[in-house]
Amino acid sequence: MSFSRDASAAAEQGPGAQWRVRVPEESELPAVARIAHEALLAPTFDIDRIRQTVELDRTLAVFDGPQPVGVAGVHSFTMTLPGGPRPVAAVTGVGVWPTHRRRGVLSALMRRQLADIRERGEDVAALFASEGGIYGRFGYGPAAYATDFRVRTREIGLRPDAPRDPALRLRLADAGEARKDMAVVHQAAAAQRVGEFQRSSAWWNTVLRDEPAERGGYGPLMCAVAEDDAGPLGYALYRTRQHWDEHGATESSLWVKELYSTAPAAYTLLWEHVITRDLVCHLSHDMAPPDDPLFTLLADPYRVSKGQVDNLWVRLVDLPAALEKRSFAAPVDVVLEVSDHYCPWNAGRWRLSADTSAARCVPTDGAPDIVLDVSHLGAAYLGGTGLGGYLAAGLVSEAAPGAVQRLDTALHRSDRPHCGKIF
Ligand SMILES: CC(C)(COP(=O)(O)OP(=O)(O)OC[C@H]1O[C@@H](n2cnc3c(N)ncnc32)[C@H](O)[C@@H]1OP(=O)(O)O)[C@@H](O)C(=O)NCCC(=O)NCCS
Repeated sequence: MSFSRDASAAAEQGPGAQWRVRVPEESELPAVARIAHEALLAPTFDIDRIRQTVELDRTLAVFDGPQPVGVAGVHSFTMTLPGGPRPVAAVTGVGVWPTHRRRGVLSALMRRQLADIRERGEDVAALFASEGGIYGRFGYGPAAYATDFRVRTREIGLRPDAPRDPALRLRLADAGEARKDMAVVHQAAAAQRVGEFQRSSAWWNTVLRDEPAERGGYGPLMCAVAEDDAGPLGYALYRTRQHWDEHGATESSLWVKELYSTAPAAYTLLWEHVITRDLVCHLSHDMAPPDDPLFTLLADPYRVSKGQVDNLWVRLVDLPAALEKRSFAAPVDVVLEVSDHYCPWNAGRWRLSADTSAARCVPTDGAPDIVLDVSHLGAAYLGGTGLGGYLAAGLVSEAAPGAVQRLDTALHRSDRPHCGKIF
């Protein structure tokens, strides 16, 4: 299981070593960006839209002669991690031209990208994966999940003891009109929720894009804002779709794009608004946090049809820095033996000593308590996924009985990590 520093260095000559990776010229961007769109089977390609958020100097491409055949980008995000908001390399736009797949192009891109991220001083990378089988080998672990759910609104209601505040009122507006209020609420909510990133103006353009052809039969984006005299405390961004059955009875739907709040009573008001809108029979949300207050506020939680969907994958790029900057829920003192094929500087034995106020992570020759891959630490880093599952599966081992339980307890958070916007 262990992977020595020498062996890691040898792995740098591994898959994809024959490809040259470089930052493309501005003039090459359309051809390079098109790779990811074609690879991801995206229906439309709009380079102006891509230019809004792309960071050219953090875009890497592989060329076969003059032809670009692979691409991977990074957004420089401030993401909330256990301990507070920090710079995170948000990996995006990954694709390989279909004629060049399985020839090591992605491996070459990942190796160079991880080295660049480290050089820039970011200790954590995160991404959304199109498929679960791709990124584990590159040291990423599945660290957050979202919940998609459907309810028949006429079968549900909120508990009578759901918190309410008579000082709160609701305002329904076009999404564009409510943009400033949404930004205020989101900024505060995202700073609290592990996994969320702070949205720039360009990202708000992306969130609020509302092309009729992309509405899937629904109407325009609407925004309900919950506010008091001091300002906005929450919002629900949603679309509705009118539908009548063959007897003329309503079968209309409401799709929640996102719902954020900074106060419990505003959650109550907003959820009650969307589940009680006249004529609406069906409500759905594709990407709610698994611990969204709605699930606790419902009088009968059995009435929700829920599924689990993938959310963030996390990679520790600078393992000791990432662990030292993290907050811990309980004291822990363990020696970790870590394998890391793509970031050899992380491989080896580390002693992690942490309590609730500070953490130290230093190289050691001490006997290991836990033997694991860096991807397992990535999965556990946000505090929402335990290492116990990996231990039970035999992918992580412990020399000292109870060591994984102690580390899990220290890494645990009582809220669940979640990112509400795919990047
Ligand atoms: C996923 C993708 C980027 C992989 O690129 P690639 O250049 O073919 O990958 P590599 O040749 O470097 O493969 C490296 C390893 O990953 C494996 N792998 C690659 N894609 C995989 C996938 N989708 N599922 C499982 N394993 C995969 C390869 O088999 C190889 O394994 P090996 O080292 O054991 O031989 C490419 O197939 C693609 O563009 N897919 C469609 C778009 C997409 O899904 N992009 C990712 C967005 S998050």
